[in-house]
Amino acid sequence: MDINERKNILVTCGPGLKDYLQTELQAMGFKILDTRTGAVVTQGSLIDCMKLNLHLRTAYNVLYLLKEFRCGSGEALYKQINKLPWENIIDPGEYLCVQSRVDTYSVNNSMYPSLKVKDAIVDRIQSKTGSRPDSGPDRNKAVVNLFWKNDKAWIYLNTSGVKISDRNYRKMPHKAPLRECLAAGIIMATGYDGSQHLVLPMCGSGTLAIEAALMATNKPPATLRSNFGFAHLKNFNEEIWNQMRDDARKKIRKDKLQKSIIATDIDPDAIAAAKQNAKTAGVEHLIEFDICDFADTNVPQGDGIVLMNPEYGLRLGDIEKLEAEYKRMGDFFKQKCAGYTGYIFTGNKKLSGKIGLRTSRRLIFFNGKIECRLLKYELYQGTRSPEK
Ligand SMILES: C[S@@+](CC[C@H](N)C(=O)[O-])C[C@H]1O[C@@H](n2cnc3c(N)ncnc32)[C@H](O)[C@@H]1O
Repeated sequence: MDINERKNILVTCGPGLKDYLQTELQAMGFKILDTRTGAVVTQGSLIDCMKLNLHLRTAYNVLYLLKEFRCGSGEALYKQINKLPWENIIDPGEYLCVQSRVDTYSVNNSMYPSLKVKDAIVDRIQSKTGSRPDSGPDRNKAVVNLFWKNDKAWIYLNTSGVKISDRNYRKMPHKAPLRECLAAGIIMATGYDGSQHLVLPMCGSGTLAIEAALMATNKPPATLRSNFGFAHLKNFNEEIWNQMRDDARKKIRKDKLQKSIIATDIDPDAIAAAKQNAKTAGVEHLIEFDICDFADTNVPQGDGIVLMNPEYGLRLGDIEKLEAEYKRMGDFFKQKCAGYTGYIFTGNKKLSGKIGLRTSRRLIFFNGKIECRLLKYELYQGTRSPEK
């Protein structure tokens, strides 16, 4: 298989992150051909797939299209897949995982098509080479994805393998951590680019602070990952990959950030986790950590962004206490953050009403299955209470 051959690439993402993913793709010079639920279609080669895996912050998986075909039965699926030259794509000594998403009248579960695809691939490799790869559910080797909707099917090489939103820096997750790709999308939505102060009270295990620091220094999110689906394909070119990583490393900003990233939490265990995670991500030196109530967070003079991700009362915390906390957050914004742009990320609409400030924007995200809002507040100088 030619690693320069251009094909459609389906980049998947979590709900609510598609717009940010499109922005990232366009900034990298990729054309948007189409969008789907939880995915964006672009075009490129397997080398482009490596680049996307290295740099995308809001994506789940980068899928390289091998074939699109009409398919009305399990037998037709087997035949179509078996025709592809798998012996040139996957080595018989490899391990293969097949994942399927199926929405067709022809079958009523995704196990059967996955099995058919796996059989079609390993039978083909066996017939051409005399041996067959092992297969199973582990996604850390060669991964193939099938999408089958009505009478149409698409077969992709999953060049990510394990989701690229798993960056590998979160060794200590603490309570209710945000997924890394969601945290990156939230930071993008605030417009943060390293040229403003960024204040993050209630930082928990530090995901927002770490993603912000990675962005501000232009550090590729996947620098900590050593394993990707593409590395288990027969044509994987390690030299090109190493060169690509070296080039990206040269573009990482080494100078100190002009403005601060401040991350605080009332829970010492949260700060310990956040520090450890930031250290693993190589950005600990860029973040000022402190253990304190959010209202005592140091907010540097000037303008900047203050972003809080409080508990929602759905999984943690207790509603009555949280109502008072949300009101206190509004007071903190008014009294200590004048001149800043304030953001609160919450999954509880009722509680957000207690903040008591007028929102200038509400953006919808999803934290797992919970619909959340990123609420924006313009904290003009005039909103600061008069000095007593
Ligand atoms: C939903 S978690 C934040 C998760 C975080 N975004 C992450 O990705 O790990 C909320 C955090 O607020 C902290 N917190 C709760 N009440 C606080 C208070 N009064 N002052 C400061 N932090 C507080 C909790 O300790 C918890 O770490």
